[in-house]
Formats: sequence, structure tokens, C-alpha cells
Amino acid sequence: MKEDLERTESAVGRRTVILGAGAVGAAGVLAACSNSDGSNGTSVDSPETMASTEVPSSPTAIAKTENIPVGGGLVVEDKMVVVTQPTEGDFKAFSSVCPHQSCNVSEVTVEEIICPCHGSKFSSETGELINGPATTGLAPVEIEVQDDQVMSKA
Ligand code: FES
Repeated sequence: MKEDLERTESAVGRRTVILGAGAVGAAGVLAACSNSDGSNGTSVDSPETMASTEVPSSPTAIAKTENIPVGGGLVVEDKMVVVTQPTEGDFKAFSSVCPHQSCNVSEVTVEEIICPCHGSKFSSETGELINGPATTGLAPVEIEVQDDQVMSKA
């Protein structure tokens, strides 16, 4: 019984240390993703945050099709996805996390998805890199349209 209690206390202690290390890591990520004006745009807080908000492994509604303009797109911050509709009825989706320093992209134009932190631009049709400083494009997200919903694929 006493051994069980000691094991439990020890396990809690390790968790506390791990969580504490995560908080330090989060502070480092935030500090690393600052704009020249000192703001950090809509940056991702930490790897722990990214893991908990990644696109789920089972089909999940991301957005209603009516909210995604033709020739534009929608950044769905709580899903960390940007959905575009380059031509009517043709939906594309990408991770909204910029591959440069992990800010969230914030704007979608007819041809571009723009990161506010350092100005990287990505194709709204393919997610490919148009302009750096990022060196790669946005990661594609597999989706399907069911009725009026854009769903992530499993
Ligand atoms: Fe630097 Fe996106 S985080 S351009």
C-alpha cells in the first residue's frame, strides 16, 4: 500500500516536471516567432498545443461550404486548417501553420494564402510556396465535401 502511494507520488512528480518543461518550451516558441513590431501574429503556442489541435484522425466537420468564398478561402483557427475554393465547387485544404516559424496564416486572396508574421505566401490552389522566407509549402489536408460540410478525411 505504501509502495503504491510512493509510486503514485513519483508518477505525479514526473508529470509535473514534464508539464513544466512544456511551459518553458512554449515560452521559447513564442519568443522565436515575433514580428519586427514585437507581436507574434496568430502563432502557435507550443508543440503541445499543435498536438491537441491537429486535424483529428476521424472525419470531422471543418467548415460549411457556404462560408468559403469562390476565389478565396477561410482560415479555421480552431482546426488549424485553411480551406480554399479556387473555382466553384473545388475545395482544397491545407494546414494553417506556416512552415517558417509556425504562425497561423491569416489571409486568403484569389491566388495566395498569406502568413502575417514574415510575409510568406502560398498558392491557394496547391499550398505550394510562392514567396519566402518559408522554404516549403503548406501541408495538404485531405478533405471531402458531405452535403454542405467540408469534412476532414480519417
Ligand atoms: Fe514567418 Fe510565416 S512564420 S513567414
